[in-house]
Amino acid sequence: MKHRLLLVCLAAFALSIPAAAEDGYDLWLRYRAADAAAYPELAATVRELVGGGGTPTLAAAERELSRGLNGLGGADVPLVAAPTRDGAIVFGTPRSSAAIAALTLDLGRVGPEGYVIRSTAVNGRATTVIAANSDAGVLYGAFHFLRLIQTRAPLRALDIVSRPRTKIRVLNHWDNLDGHVERGYAGQSIWDWHKLPLWLDPRYTDYARACASVGINGSVLTNVNANATSLTPAYLEKAAALAGVMRTYGVRVYLTARFSAPMELGGLKTADPLDPAVRTWWKAKVDEIYRYIPDFGGFLVKANSEGQPGPQDYKRTHADGANMLAEVLAPHGGIVMWRAFVYSNETPTDRAKQAYDEFVPLDGKFADNVLVQVKNGAIDFQPREPFHPLFGAMPKTPLMMEFQITKEYLGFATHLTYLGPLFEEALESDTLVKGKGSTVAKIVDGELHGYKLTGMAGVANIGADRNWSGSQFDQANWYAFGRFAWDPGADSRAIAQDWLRMTFSNDARFVQPVLAMMMGSREAVVDYMTPLGLHHLMDTGHHYGPGPWVGNLSRADWNPTYYHRSDANGIGFERGPKGSGATSQYSPQAAARFSDLKKTPENLLLWFHHVPWDHRMSSGRTLWDELVLHYTHGVEVVSQMRVSWAAQQGRVDAERFAQVAAFLAIQEQEARWWRDACIAYFQSISRRPLPAGVAAPAQPLEYYQSLKFPYAPGHG
Ligand code: GCU
Repeated sequence: MKHRLLLVCLAAFALSIPAAAEDGYDLWLRYRAADAAAYPELAATVRELVGGGGTPTLAAAERELSRGLNGLGGADVPLVAAPTRDGAIVFGTPRSSAAIAALTLDLGRVGPEGYVIRSTAVNGRATTVIAANSDAGVLYGAFHFLRLIQTRAPLRALDIVSRPRTKIRVLNHWDNLDGHVERGYAGQSIWDWHKLPLWLDPRYTDYARACASVGINGSVLTNVNANATSLTPAYLEKAAALAGVMRTYGVRVYLTARFSAPMELGGLKTADPLDPAVRTWWKAKVDEIYRYIPDFGGFLVKANSEGQPGPQDYKRTHADGANMLAEVLAPHGGIVMWRAFVYSNETPTDRAKQAYDEFVPLDGKFADNVLVQVKNGAIDFQPREPFHPLFGAMPKTPLMMEFQITKEYLGFATHLTYLGPLFEEALESDTLVKGKGSTVAKIVDGELHGYKLTGMAGVANIGADRNWSGSQFDQANWYAFGRFAWDPGADSRAIAQDWLRMTFSNDARFVQPVLAMMMGSREAVVDYMTPLGLHHLMDTGHHYGPGPWVGNLSRADWNPTYYHRSDANGIGFERGPKGSGATSQYSPQAAARFSDLKKTPENLLLWFHHVPWDHRMSSGRTLWDELVLHYTHGVEVVSQMRVSWAAQQGRVDAERFAQVAAFLAIQEQEARWWRDACIAYFQSISRRPLPAGVAAPAQPLEYYQSLKFPYAPGHG
């Protein structure tokens, strides 16, 4: 009786697994069985897996292939020592696999991390080979092969050759040692520092798997607003434990370095980078780190920005600071990622100009193992910014891209905003520094200036939430970041399509409309928050809701009124020659475009120009009417997204369906709030009527001005 009860309980538990597993934890590594009748080539091409897990990373590749192929095929794929029949999958490096060594695969083309996936014959058997020069390359290839199956791609006559276009592909976790994540909207930090090093949460392994699946090869564990404690032995031991998990998946660990650590930890009187005692302290510290983490990646540094200490405190330059750290990391193969997000204590004439002014004079002065990490735009991860003028302006200094995956200014975790189009737009921007086609992508991947080091960083949106990112659709932004870091020329639509198929369903009735939703979602946010080049309109203390009226903060460039400058005549920040002159920081050709109001793209108009309310836009409408229509359109798109999603009921599991539906309802409410508050305020300045047929804001301006959110996430 007891046994029967136990069996019933176990059966009930087993039945409950599929539903529970659809909470988003599996991410895009979701290996549900394919419909054999609709995808017959899976059974024909995948019949056995030729084992080859001689190293921890190859063993991980084998585990992933087994798990994926067994799941997708709906039955266990036998593991064999050599192909015994058609339909073998052979994976490895020329060192790990004699079969691969015997094939002519031309692995010279794929570099240390790339891979080849080829349909060929081994021992006279039709075989799919996944080969690379390194174990990590094999793992990347294994994930690619699984992706083909997950997206129901053809599996015959494969000849895929892939190599990453950047070397350093890192997530930046803005995670504090107390578990709080700066601008994190997915719960507490994924790193449970308190329980490390002895408790290794299985999530760490799944995190590393997910990173490897898109080619991410580095993880900066700690916040850029750094805490020197992370460099103490107790915390290095914890970081080493994480490194132990991640190493298997080709992910190297990095830490942020607080510039004043020699004073805070070492008791020195100064952190002057040219002081011999300071240099000795860092050398000893770095040597110590490498004793804990032999493959430590290096440091990410935010210095002299937003109150952080840095070399300028001692009248030294960013290059002096970066080079001091670079020198002690170099013998171990470590690097420095020095951030160009500088934002000094003095109010500048135009905050958008500051990084360029500080960094361009230092071009060529950085050590070989330093990259300068540049945000995609010059202000701060706004829904739309023009490309950062540093791209193209430092030919002798490797510049790496910093994107923000966590959506600090794009609706946090609740708004469905697929960032692929934002990444693509930034990367495809043409700096024109070496003529047409001098895109930011070609600067970041090293092609344009011949950078030896290249990289891309993404500020992570990962936390302790079951679904990792705080919402189902925000997982797509982690995924897309990895794919763009691997290939800065990638296509955001193709990436979104892969992600949808892997994460939800291959049903065309689902994929097509939801793909359209994703692709339009970023522009919708731009429209309902900051259309036509507006930026930085958030209310005081948080980045959650609108506050275009705010003009009372002590520092001019903290105020939205500083950025939109609306008055009775018009709106926008004049950055042309008659204004702040920021346009002159671009190449002459790009500057000619941006400094001329008539040539400036309309979606950046108010970024670069102060424009009269009655200015005629290309539509024939006035700027004022156009602005109102953009705000209104943004809300309409979200309403339409809700309708599209509602039609998907039954095509995805109930749990994820419900969460997305609820979040879209929140998004619609908040989009309307942004629109109404901004229109109410700007109308009080423009004093013009709303275009015919457009609804007035639901509440008077005072209502929106009275709203306070002292506990909004990220308030501070
Ligand atoms: C933004 C963000 C801060 C962060 C900073 C940075 O200003 O709001 O939380 O520290 O960027 O990138 O360093």
